Amino acid sequence: MDNRPIGVFDSGVGGLTALKELRCLLPEENIIYFGDTARLPYGTRSRETLLKYIAQDIAFLRRYDCKLILAACGTVSTNITPELAQSAGVPFLGVLEPAVKAACAATKNGRIGVIATPSSIRTGAYQQAIANLQPSFQVTVKGCPLLVPLVENGFIQPDNEITEKVVRIYLDPVKEAGVDTLILGCTHFPLISKIIGRVMGSGTVLIDAGECLARQARRELEKRDAFGTGGNTSYFVTDSTEDFSQIASLFLEDSVGGDVKWVNIDSL
Ligand code: DGL
Repeated sequence: MDNRPIGVFDSGVGGLTALKELRCLLPEENIIYFGDTARLPYGTRSRETLLKYIAQDIAFLRRYDCKLILAACGTVSTNITPELAQSAGVPFLGVLEPAVKAACAATKNGRIGVIATPSSIRTGAYQQAIANLQPSFQVTVKGCPLLVPLVENGFIQPDNEITEKVVRIYLDPVKEAGVDTLILGCTHFPLISKIIGRVMGSGTVLIDAGECLARQARRELEKRDAFGTGGNTSYFVTDSTEDFSQIASLFLEDSVGGDVKWVNIDSL
């Protein structure tokens, strides 16, 4: 038994995809969710800048004596150094490995697509992780810089024509490559998974990196016999609490209202 909270972080609302699954799999856990909304998007930043941001994100969560820290962000997971992950001082999990494992298990034709932020794709980490598991698999990657701002601005309705148009432009070459499995390698993308699924067609399995991370977190707690009780979620953001509450409530189908607090990023 361990009643310390689980820390979850992302640049914004993307990590809610992991949070939603965590709350479903582990309803008794206390969770601290941190969104660095004042500095998003992360996915177009240089590695140098990202490492600075990640160090501050981890420093913030360390204040809460977390038992586990989850980078519910593809950009963080693909850019972080092992030293920085270790600086968390507690087990640190990202979305890369669990998402890649799930995709390798799901594909039937050995052709996997990955959509993620440009900063994630640039590292080659998804391609490398798939090659390590299954060297013969064909991987088609596509950086999708416009999708994060669309999601953060609430363009997430399943019939949103603007988002669908942008998704089609990005996914055309991925479809042409004949993939049967698509990793949503940025945790913002499952918020528009209905549109992505429609564009790819029903024959494509979509892998939600945030959900894969949540399942991995449960396995980690099981292994350590570290389940907790409480079931509270607290939200912290570095920009407008109202904007975050609005999109978060929409996605979680549950009002997060007054539970969102502002964090002074310069104090980290
Ligand atoms: N949700 C994040 C990811 O998974 C970051 C998106 C961004 O801020 O660009 O990559």
